[in-house]
Amino acid sequence: MYQYVIRGGNPLAGEVNISGAKNAALAILAAAIMTDDTVVIDNLPNVSDVNVLIDSIEGIGATVKHIDNHTVSICGATISSVVVDYDAIKKMRASYYLLGALLGKFRKAKVALPGGCTIGARPIDLHIKGFRALGATVNIADGCVVAQAAGGLSGSHIYLDKVSVGATINIMMAAALSGGKTIIENAAKEPHVVDVANFLNSMGARIRGAGTDVVRIIGVEKLHGSEYSVIPDQIEAGTYMFAAAATKGDVTVKNVIPKHLEATTAKLLEMGCEIHEFDDAVRVVSKGNLTHTQVTTLPYPGFPTDMQPQMAVLLGIAQGVSTVTESIFENRFKYVGELARMGGNIKVEGNIAIITGVDGYQGARVCVPDLRAGAALVIAGLSADGITVLDDIQYIQRGYEDIVEKFKSLGAEMELVCSDEEIRAFAEAK
Ligand code: UD1
Repeated sequence: MYQYVIRGGNPLAGEVNISGAKNAALAILAAAIMTDDTVVIDNLPNVSDVNVLIDSIEGIGATVKHIDNHTVSICGATISSVVVDYDAIKKMRASYYLLGALLGKFRKAKVALPGGCTIGARPIDLHIKGFRALGATVNIADGCVVAQAAGGLSGSHIYLDKVSVGATINIMMAAALSGGKTIIENAAKEPHVVDVANFLNSMGARIRGAGTDVVRIIGVEKLHGSEYSVIPDQIEAGTYMFAAAATKGDVTVKNVIPKHLEATTAKLLEMGCEIHEFDDAVRVVSKGNLTHTQVTTLPYPGFPTDMQPQMAVLLGIAQGVSTVTESIFENRFKYVGELARMGGNIKVEGNIAIITGVDGYQGARVCVPDLRAGAALVIAGLSADGITVLDDIQYIQRGYEDIVEKFKSLGAEMELVCSDEEIRAFAEAK
């Protein structure tokens, strides 16, 4: 078992390159199998979720070539099975994208029910509602979702009862290869929804309105090959920006789309940081003590739920009392107990965390409960006095490429270790 060990207290300074967006990459990789031509995708983040999905795509027979660490070519012409039921994929949320992709292309799919971080119930009823509206029959059998449309898929008018990133993208994929016109109302507007639509359009799909709450799709008979570059990861960028603020540092995140970071930068400004925006970079300069604020997570362009734990960690060392309201997932405060071990003072009432700022965190041994909470605990460790050890870092590795190297390049003292001796040696060095 591996751990991260951090000696906190160094103000982070310098520049860091942000990787491609994990959540866009996962949907784009799934969509790439919808054509028999070859598709080349670059700016893929080299993280475990992406690698598991690539393995699954290869597992059903697609031809995958790794061109470099961040680029693959995929050819779906050789797919021999529409059943995706591997142990690794069961632990992933984004496995559901293979449903929309396979159903669209082959009119049938059997995919393990999605897992992913346990941040809430995370049903997929809206995905199923969408597939059924397109004419598919959908059942649950052997722990899998089984979808088929022997008579073909036909366009439909679908209203999403709740704004769902996954359902919007999944329906968009299946509808891209259906007969007729589909309208998705109350669609998610996240940057990765737009990125997947742009990718599908680059393969010949006819999707309009992605990025607004009404997406219109005119189904086409087939899709063709494409070369595509995934957008930068707004959550990874936001994580480094918050780490800069937490350590009283000065960090420039590079290879980003500043517009996608507006909710994050707005909160940093409210808390007293200085922000400089460039064409494809954002610089965060700490001005000393942070001030309290209120945050509510909302679908894009609101404050992202995937930045909520990082925000709470930052507010935990801001002056005064802050609140964080989680409106998307009902179980996303599991890091609060771990943060308390580091001296944090957070009380959770329902979906609201009431945070009383403390002067600073103290290093401790903590368990990572899920991906973004893990990133938040790293930030706490970087700002803390003393040594922090994080267990269960496999969650963090799902979504953060080279996190140790990137933080070290900004001046952090952080290592990947795999034994208590190594932890002791790290703590005793210096
Ligand atoms: C995706 C992201 C995740 C992010 C989330 C919200 C991936 C792989 N994951 O997750 O990192 O936190 O968007 O930005 O891209 N819901 C239903 N029924 C459904 C689908 C969703 O009730 O069929 C609910 C969910 O429980 C949640 C809300 O809708 O309360 C939003 O979920 P959704 O946007 O679908 O999130 P995911 O696609 O799971």
